[in-house]
Amino acid sequence: MPTTLALDIYGTLIDPLAVKTALIDHVGDEAGAFAETWRSKQLEYSFRRGLMGAWRNFSDVTRAALDFTCEMFGATISANDKNTLMGHYRELDAFPDVSPALTALQQNGVALHALSNGVADDISALLAHAGLNDRIASIVSVDEVQTYKPDPRFYAHFLKRTEAKAATTWLVSANPFDVIGAAACGWRTVWVKRNPNMVFDPWEQAPTVTVSALTDLLALPDFKK
Ligand code: LAC
Repeated sequence: MPTTLALDIYGTLIDPLAVKTALIDHVGDEAGAFAETWRSKQLEYSFRRGLMGAWRNFSDVTRAALDFTCEMFGATISANDKNTLMGHYRELDAFPDVSPALTALQQNGVALHALSNGVADDISALLAHAGLNDRIASIVSVDEVQTYKPDPRFYAHFLKRTEAKAATTWLVSANPFDVIGAAACGWRTVWVKRNPNMVFDPWEQAPTVTVSALTDLLALPDFKK
């Protein structure tokens, strides 16, 4: 059975905080803090909607989080400008280590799939913008099960969809809640800790491997030819 990698998208392949460049025109020096609040509210809303069974897709969740963050920062951003900001979410750049790592992993015969909270069409646009779509065999989105990570039903759905087995599947994510969710389902996990100050949640599960860049994966036996 070949090794399967389930790649998280936002925060792992693509930097959602890069949207701060587009926010400078609206909130100036607060752009970084605004982008962080927007991202953390987006995740909070996804968790809450998953728990409540009150489905809205990730684009709707992201838009609601943007509305909240505008209120919180007292920023008046027109509906048109909000739409433009949402458009930036489909055109974010990949982290620099991603493209060379995915090329080498693909050459080594590792099956690469996206596993994301995002809407499949948005993920496809992001991957195309970042020039990565030729390396990703399929995009598995929560839309298919209408719940959010870390709901175990989504990780189970991924295995069914890609005909993979938990024992030979690795989740690759920079988001600790995602690593913990997949580990709780019996997968092996890679925590991508690009920021040395990032802290992993104290939990029953720990990552199998922690790397500071995706290219570090190539040194591990499971990902060699
Ligand atoms: C994703 C979220 C976790 O891409 O950012 O699934």
